Amino acid sequence: MKKSVRAFAPATVANVSCGFDILGFAIDELGDQVEVTLRDEPGLRVVLIEGDGGRLPYEADKNTCTVAIQAMLDHHGFEGGMEISLYKGLPLGSGMGSSAASAAAALIAANTLLGDPYDKKELVNFAVEAERIACGAAHADNVAPSLLGGFVLIRDYHPLDVIKLPVPKGLYCTLLHPHLELNTSDSRSVLKKQLSLKDATIQSGNIAGLISGLYQSDFELISRSLKDVIAEPTRALLIPGFYELRIAIQRIGALGSGISGSGPTIFVLSPSRKVAEEVAIAGQEVFAQIGLEVDAFISEVNDKGAYVI
Ligand code: HSE
Repeated sequence: MKKSVRAFAPATVANVSCGFDILGFAIDELGDQVEVTLRDEPGLRVVLIEGDGGRLPYEADKNTCTVAIQAMLDHHGFEGGMEISLYKGLPLGSGMGSSAASAAAALIAANTLLGDPYDKKELVNFAVEAERIACGAAHADNVAPSLLGGFVLIRDYHPLDVIKLPVPKGLYCTLLHPHLELNTSDSRSVLKKQLSLKDATIQSGNIAGLISGLYQSDFELISRSLKDVIAEPTRALLIPGFYELRIAIQRIGALGSGISGSGPTIFVLSPSRKVAEEVAIAGQEVFAQIGLEVDAFISEVNDKGAYVI
């Protein structure tokens, strides 16, 4: 009998405004599934991809599932083969960590087949190779929270130092996904290459404030800290309705909003489910006014991360 393992990995919000490339959190329910099956012949083979509209590559050196697993197998020394089936639950180019969820689910399934030689933090090292293929930058702020769940800080990349942060009770996220597509590589190309000392100071203050706010469950502090002077000023120009939404959600008591990863999805943090639901309604109105369809999704922060089904 063939040995198979199927795993789920959640969507994620990377950056969380002030944490460009160093902070992310996981979302409930939304995500990708990957089934990995051992086979006798060596090598990795993608045998099925569903839910991508025929757009993702089957080539093992281009698919984020196989690239991540290959990085793990190269480290492990495993010489057998694996077949991979990918079931996409996440839209491509949405800013919800779609490529990361595929890689994270693939790694959890393959690692289980090998008898769990790696823990989730170690798997982040392999998952970033998938991001390198997907967008040209081996950023970890989607793959780390997708694997570990909760809020995750990437304190350093060389070597990776991944730190799980506390999740305040009662914190809700509304994701608003306007029907647009943005490639992470394109969204990275619009970023300014130099940072002024003034902006570095502002960003450092806010990331420190946000992390303190998470530790102290201080919603006011979290709200004051959700500011981004690095990526948002240029990227927001690619997302119609971004600033209109920000004004609308302030009126209903949300903590703040920002671009989810590289966009176009916008995340809004709220101090209760009720406010998060009002944000979803306000968001639909804002986007309706500019003639854009939008999907709204409400979630608590998922503290579990990727798991075997
Ligand atoms: N930190 C990455 C970026 C996340 O902003 O480009 C991409 O989802």
